[in-house]
Amino acid sequence: MSQPVVSQALAPSPPRHIAIIMDGNGRWAKARGLPRNLGHRQGIDTVRDVVRACRTLRIEYLTLYAFSSENWKRPETEVAGLMELLRLFIRRELDDLWRNGVRIRMIGDRSKLAPDIMQLITDAEHKTRDNRTLTLTIALSYGGQDEIVAACRRLAEQVAAGKLQPAEITPDLLAANLETAGIPDPDLVIRTSGEQRLSNFLLWQSAYSELIFVDKLWPDFSAQDLAGAVEEFQRRERRYGGSGE
Ligand code: IPE
Ligand code: IPE
Ligand code: MG
Repeated sequence: MSQPVVSQALAPSPPRHIAIIMDGNGRWAKARGLPRNLGHRQGIDTVRDVVRACRTLRIEYLTLYAFSSENWKRPETEVAGLMELLRLFIRRELDDLWRNGVRIRMIGDRSKLAPDIMQLITDAEHKTRDNRTLTLTIALSYGGQDEIVAACRRLAEQVAAGKLQPAEITPDLLAANLETAGIPDPDLVIRTSGEQRLSNFLLWQSAYSELIFVDKLWPDFSAQDLAGAVEEFQRRERRYGGSGE
């Protein structure tokens, strides 16, 4: 009778924050002889499923890498297709997300986005700002190096203005000047498609994240795969440089 209670008490806590590099849409389409944009379209269904699964798993923060600062290099038609899907996603899902307690945030370079997309995102952030069940952060036109450079610039300006001493610059102060200020660092970073790299995603914030690479392509990734990754996370030992004893 008391056995399960004991093992539950010892069970490592689930991740508070999961960040996902949603990769493999292009290969999913290619394998079917379809244009890449149809792979992206299929990927939207996975986004919907994963957001729902996070609510079920009581994950507090989900960050999705939707478009990197380097993805602007892709052909114009693919970029336009991705932006159109983003419009569609926000228009179609916003009410549902809002009703389900999801708060929406965006990180990334807003100046590069079309004005109507910027407006849609700003409106979505505003409408959902009091929601607390799940914070869904969309990394769009996002690059980790750019984000760190922008934070450094802000601190340098304060130093130049005589408002900050260089010795006062600490990791906490730098983190507070990142776009993710107020969001805990990701406990778990998942990348689909079998690629094993960060591709400029949350470089500062992932210093001690557990990394899980899944072979499935993003359109094939499911709620069960997410639950499986969470289970694997709970079997890991996080040491933060300590001896683990
Ligand atoms: C991820 O899928 C989506 C974005 C980068 C926007 P990809 O488009 O990178 O798919 P692959 O890697 O070519 O298969
Ligand atoms: C990373 O995937 C960006 C997103 C998933 C949005 P990429 O497909 O752009 O990364 P690389 O080019 O394989 O490193
Ligand atoms: Mg890719």
